[in-house]
Amino acid sequence: MQDDWKAQLGLRVPVVNAPMGGAAGGRLAAAVSAAGGLGMIGMGSSGTAEALQRELALVPAGARVGIGMVDWVARGNPEMFDVAIDARPALLSVSFGSDFDWVARARAAGIPTVTQVADVAEARVAHDAGVDVLVARGLEGGGHGRPLSSRDELLVSVLSVTDRPVLAAGAISDAEDVRRVRALGAAAVWVGTAFLLTTEALTTPGARQALLAATGSDTVLTRVFDRALGYSWPPDIPERVLANRFTARWHDQPPPFDEELAGAELRAAITRDDPAEQSVNAGVGVGHLRDGLSAADVVAMLTP
Ligand SMILES: Cc1cc2nc3c(=O)[nH]c(=O)nc-3n(C[C@H](O)[C@H](O)[C@H](O)COP(=O)(O)O)c2cc1C
Repeated sequence: MQDDWKAQLGLRVPVVNAPMGGAAGGRLAAAVSAAGGLGMIGMGSSGTAEALQRELALVPAGARVGIGMVDWVARGNPEMFDVAIDARPALLSVSFGSDFDWVARARAAGIPTVTQVADVAEARVAHDAGVDVLVARGLEGGGHGRPLSSRDELLVSVLSVTDRPVLAAGAISDAEDVRRVRALGAAAVWVGTAFLLTTEALTTPGARQALLAATGSDTVLTRVFDRALGYSWPPDIPERVLANRFTARWHDQPPPFDEELAGAELRAAITRDDPAEQSVNAGVGVGHLRDGLSAADVVAMLTP
């Protein structure tokens, strides 16, 4: 079954780039697919139908890419979900929700589905809902996720409750990591942070500078950026980011959290692309990042 899935997606290398809002657009997705993996366009907390259309337009005709969305964002933007279905992606991801009604729509359109899970209970729900591929997303990972188990422990437990392909995610940084999770039974890897500095990524210059200087111990799990922007993330889903002045100032603030002040500071930092005051998502593998690599270089580095 796992090999059928790879053939269906045209995967020559068992590497899927994680859909990353603000970082993984059409250029990165197309480059990862051209290098033998599967590229995914990410629509994050501020994803829109227009932004998705813009990124899809950067994918060369005939190239196979996937699309990944966040559950609460897709529900608030039915048009974005429609654009995703109409694009007939090679793989459709909706993560961080508990209602899998979207799977039937994808299936009716012949689109394979994937979702990220953080524990066995979520894996069972996704399996029972008919999701084709599961991602065991460990707490080492960058960006949002329920931080419940480390990657390899989670992978083994998810494999025990499904016969579907399971991808491993969280701090996958090199071919040795890929070999390790494949030996544990992963069908492929789902990799975010390792692609953040590639020439094709949408990562801003300020964020690139901060990522290059960081190590894994510089990351922190927090909700302060989401609270400052009034995003509707469930309270038990923080994001892993680079610790910075903003997290130092707001992370341990006792309630009431001053959303207006924090939001004004954050919006100003985003406008001036200041990595000390804005959210820079990264997993604990961030210390392995090197500058000046293409997506194809990173796929080659990850090839077992
Ligand atoms: C910059 C960044 C943005 C992300 N945005 C999204 C997103 O929009 N949707 C999503 O499902 N996951 C998102 N994620 C999480 C990834 O899907 C994945 O869980 C994570 O990147 C895996 O860990 P790694 O970053 O250590 O490789 C994001 C991760 C990063 C680093």
